[in-house]
Order: sequence, then structure tokens, then C-alpha cells
Amino acid sequence: MSSARSATGRVVRAPTRPVAPFGYNRSMLPQISNRGRLMPASPIRKLMPLADEAKRRGTHVYHLNIGQPDIETPACMRERLRALQDKVLAYTPSGGTPEYLHVLRDYYRGLGLGIDLGHLIATTGGSEAVQFAFMAAANEGDEALVVQPFYTNYNAFATMAGVRLVPLTSHGEDGFHLPPREAFEHALTPRTRLVVLCNPNNPTGTVYSRAELGMVAEFCRERGLFLVSDEVYREFVYDGREAVSALALPGFEDHVIVVDSLSKRYSACGIRLGALVTRNKELHQAALRMAQGRLSAPGLAQYLALGIPDIGAEYTRNVVAEYQKRRDVLFEGLGQIPGVFLRKPEGAFYFVARLPILDSEDFARFLLADFQHAGGTVMVAPAGGFYATPGLGLDEVRIAYVLKEADLRASIDVLAAALPAYCRARGLGDPLAVAATAAAPDFAAPQH
Ligand SMILES: Cc1ncc(COP(=O)(O)O)c(C=O)c1O
Repeated sequence: MSSARSATGRVVRAPTRPVAPFGYNRSMLPQISNRGRLMPASPIRKLMPLADEAKRRGTHVYHLNIGQPDIETPACMRERLRALQDKVLAYTPSGGTPEYLHVLRDYYRGLGLGIDLGHLIATTGGSEAVQFAFMAAANEGDEALVVQPFYTNYNAFATMAGVRLVPLTSHGEDGFHLPPREAFEHALTPRTRLVVLCNPNNPTGTVYSRAELGMVAEFCRERGLFLVSDEVYREFVYDGREAVSALALPGFEDHVIVVDSLSKRYSACGIRLGALVTRNKELHQAALRMAQGRLSAPGLAQYLALGIPDIGAEYTRNVVAEYQKRRDVLFEGLGQIPGVFLRKPEGAFYFVARLPILDSEDFARFLLADFQHAGGTVMVAPAGGFYATPGLGLDEVRIAYVLKEADLRASIDVLAAALPAYCRARGLGDPLAVAATAAAPDFAAPQH
């Protein structure tokens, strides 16, 4: 048996290929790679069959588990599709069409960020930008520091790149703000190549302050690391907050790689368009060569994106106001349920709430398989999948507020009824007592 480590250090054993005595053996099946074996399945999607089954039974399922916004994509982007005259849907330049790159550059300049065309690469969603960033910044076997809970697909991209994610833990009590610099120092090894931050954060809804960002950027500069800043939720900040882009920090030009996307900003997840932004020339060149290898990002999407300058600030203002209202509805509603703990989320459209339970995956299954209230139930994402350290997040769920207000209110009613029913069904007793027994996390220690 040979073994290998997953992105988060889990040891996975691969069976050794039996040796064929006389060369080719018809019965020998080809073996997939260790990388393929290590590739984690999405923890968000694995409960989908239970949701489908609940729907077949006639139960309405409120999907609080995924980040697919219900907001309309701006008409000026959609209408471009109808106006399309091209008779050949051709490849486009690997780094992006000049027109799309100009639109992006102007967008950044509108934010006061001095970005030139040579700092940009069009990518297939923000996802590909994460992948390029990991592959261009780290060698196989290198390490990336990441603050947990984190966007679970970082696991997938780290596994593809052979990079090990080293988690530092943030905590609900602090609104999931960053651990202190000592935690970063403590986790540093000779293999550390980068730090990954998501700001505003999925899954926690935390928006890091300029001082927090500055602390991490300074750490990266002093230790010779890249800072991968995933800013795909940049616009989604509430109560007058500002999301500080890592691109706005002077003096860190060679360290910062920003991951960006149109998916959430324009509620256009399906067009698969994003960008990698960096002022580091070598990193940009490396990512561009990777982009050349896959020929081009979606040309149709880049064509649609040329509608962006017509969108206007009002669209974003309205969308953000809508999400802020939804956040308030959920925050107030869930806060009334005994044993539920959450700090007011600051941005993005997710938060992690602590519930009076001991196993959130079991609770999520219970909601879908064994419970309904007024004809409906709720699908939540168990938070364990957002942590690299086994055992963390077992009493937490991630909630996405991508549904209309009425559906959110119905979801609150479902959860308020489900929690005591679940505690009774599992013999857990009073939800408040369960909340009190949930382990208090150790704040400063980085979790490997
Ligand atoms: C934090 C974060 N980064 C990146 C992505 C990737 O988005 P996309 O590939 O749709 O641009 C997502 C999608 O949900 C996300 O939440």
C-alpha cells in the first residue's frame, strides 16, 4: 500500500498496483492518481439526495445551503446575448479580450485602485483564478496558511496543486476575525509559500479591517510569502462598512494576488467569468502561461461583460440593501431561538451560526429526512466541511441568505421548531443545556 496526504494532511492509502508477471495483463484495471483519490467531494452537495427525496414527498425545501443568488442578472448584460451577431464563436485571447480587460481596469480605477491591463488575466470564474494562484505561487508539497472556517473549494484547488492547507482557527466569539500575528508565525514552516484570505468572507460573513489586512500583508512581506486575497464578495458589505482590497495596500505589490469574479457581483454565476489581478510581473507571466495552456476564458461571457459599464451604481446599491435586509431578518429571527449564537455578519451573504447541537451533519440530515414544519424544511450546510481540523464546526452550520424575505422568515420558523424536536429525538434534552456543553475552542493555537 502506498499513501499520500490530502490538502489538509489527511493520510489516504492507495492500493499498490499488482505487478503483471508477463507484461500486459488484460485483467489489470488502470489506477487513478493519488491526486484523483484525494480530491474531496463537495461537503455542501452531499446532502442533495436527501433534499430531493424530501421534495418528492411534497415538502418544500428552503435552500439556505448554497450561494446561488436569486437576484436577476442585470438586463444590460442579458440583452447583449440577444444582440450577438457573430457567426463563429471563436477562441479569444488567453489573457482576456482587450475589451473585457478595459472594462475590468475601469472598474478597479472606479474603486481608486491603480490597475493596468498588464495586471489582469481573465479567468473561468474566480475558481480558475484560485487555481492559477495556487499553482503559480507554490510547488507540490508546499504549504498555504488559511483561516478556518474557509471556503471549502480551497481544498479542491490545493489538492490539484499538491499544496497543503495549514489552518489557523478563527472563532465565532470574535465574529471570526483574524487570529493574531503570533498564530501566523507559529504556523510558519520552511514550506510555507502563501497565505489565503477571503474578504468579505465566505462562510463567516466577516469583513476584515484595514489593520487586520495590513497585519497579514506585513507578515507576508517579512516572510517572503504571497497573499492570495479572494475578494469575490467585495461589494457585499453592510452598515456602511468598506471592504479594503489587498490591492489598496501600498508597498505589497509583489505579494498580492487578488481573486475576483463576476458571479456574485452581478448575480451571474453561470457565465463563468472572473479575473486574477496581480502587480507581480513574474506571477502574472506564470499565470498567463497557464491561461495559454487552456486557450481562453469563455468568450461569450467576456462579450456579456461589456454590458457592465451600463449597469450603474444603483444596481449594486439596491442589491446590497436587499442582502442587508435579509441578513437583518435572519440575524434577528435566529437570535430569538434559544441556544443559537451568532455575531452580526458584516458582509458577503453567509454566516456561521452555532446551534445547540453536537453534530451539525446529523442535524442537517434530520431536517431533510425526518422533519417538516408547515409543509417545509430547511437545508443548511454543516460547518464541519469548512474546517480542516477534524472535530471543529460540529455545532455550527453555514447559512446563505440568498432567498426572499418571506422564505427566510419561514426558514426561521422551521429552525425554531426543529431544534427542540431534534434535541428530543436524539435524547439531547434541553437545547440550552446542549449549547452549554459544546466545547469552548482554544483561540490562539493554530490548528494543523
Ligand atoms: C469565496 C469564494 N471564492 C471563489 C468562488 C468561486 O466563484 P466563481 O468560480 O463562480 O467565480 C466562490 C463561489 O462561491 C466563493 O464563495
